[in-house]
Amino acid sequence: MQVFSLPTKMASSTDSRGSPPPEDLHFDTRAVIARPPRVSINPVAPSIETTSTYVMDTVDEFVHKLENKGYIYSRHGGPTQDGAAYSINQLEGGFGTLVFSSGMAAVSTILLSQLKGGDHVICQMPVYAGTMKFLQRAMMKFDVEVTWVKAGSVEEYAKNIKDNTKLLWGESPANPLCTILDLEEFGRLGQTREGLITVVDSTFAGPYHQQPLRHGVDVSMNSCTKYLGGHCDILAGALSTSKEHLFETFYTWQQMLGNNLSPFDAFLLHRGTQSLHVRMARHSSNAMHLAHFLQKHPKVERVFYPGLPSHPQHEAAKRVMGNGYSGMMSFEVKGGEQAGKTFVESVRVIKLAVSLGGVESLVEHPATMTHGRYMISDLEREMGNITPGLIRFSVGIESVQDLENDLAQALDKI
Ligand SMILES: Cc1ncc(COP(=O)(O)O)c(C=O)c1O
Repeated sequence: MQVFSLPTKMASSTDSRGSPPPEDLHFDTRAVIARPPRVSINPVAPSIETTSTYVMDTVDEFVHKLENKGYIYSRHGGPTQDGAAYSINQLEGGFGTLVFSSGMAAVSTILLSQLKGGDHVICQMPVYAGTMKFLQRAMMKFDVEVTWVKAGSVEEYAKNIKDNTKLLWGESPANPLCTILDLEEFGRLGQTREGLITVVDSTFAGPYHQQPLRHGVDVSMNSCTKYLGGHCDILAGALSTSKEHLFETFYTWQQMLGNNLSPFDAFLLHRGTQSLHVRMARHSSNAMHLAHFLQKHPKVERVFYPGLPSHPQHEAAKRVMGNGYSGMMSFEVKGGEQAGKTFVESVRVIKLAVSLGGVESLVEHPATMTHGRYMISDLEREMGNITPGLIRFSVGIESVQDLENDLAQALDKI
């Protein structure tokens, strides 16, 4: 078999511990260990580092890196993940950010790392169904007590704080009615007591429209599967925090749970963040136009979009969001469940699919899909105001005229 011959400069080079030159080694060994010498490069685009482990020159180097978050083993982090995390942290304005294998991996890491038996959590209703299930099924199993309060009311959180309250969980804009939490008041409430942690799931807005940490909230959580990734091609999550001790705990628990993001997905996430502002500006202007269109349509009962003056927390949205109001809305069609189903099955440019935040427009029917019988109880659906005619609409970045025409023809089918 022909040996691939390296240029002399490379063939004769040795690594820092003096590996034997390639010509002294058997084919099998060369096949396994052949690497060009490392050269210092400064690529314009982020690179994908797939390695699961790192070569050490000495044992002390390992120990030093272990103690200082150096790269030793990729469950503890790697440069591609750090690239995505760094970029999100810049946008969120945090002390630090970690990226996870999904939004739920980020949610479960916060809850598992911060709570123990006997602690009390206050969470809004409605909240993302996965978060609700985790609190109900996993955390209650560990004797963590949960109080559910009406979404959008900081007063309700304040009224329910007890001696053992450890964590306040908010989501804004909330899934699926786009209820807004006044992040300024929420952050302030969290600071009234030492050790109380405030978390906001900011997925529906993302850092272009809202940066919870800048309002005094301790942790901003994003499902990066949505706007930050932006193309419906990855599952990812992020936790950004303003507090060093929280960052340290999340980092330790991420290693224990093994829920770090893969380098390939981290690469796509980092690439997504680079165009976040351009995509969000279009998501948000398309959504504003279509919210006005839907509001005037005779087959639509009401529209929930934080940018409309008719939205119950429009004033709070003006205070806590910036650069527009994102691309998420929901609206209720007249005629109940059958009308809702007919509508989502009649769209042609827009697609019938769960998830959100990608460049393509998606609709779904919460009462039977994301918030249906399989996900939540009838009572929880009722408490969350998830009516049979409700449609959740993730507005994409297509031509707004094509989207309006598609909505019009689908509404005609009802
Ligand atoms: C508001 C919100 N939070 C969290 C999640 C969970 O994210 P993932 O699906 O990436 O685990 C979702 C997913 O739809 C969501 O909509």
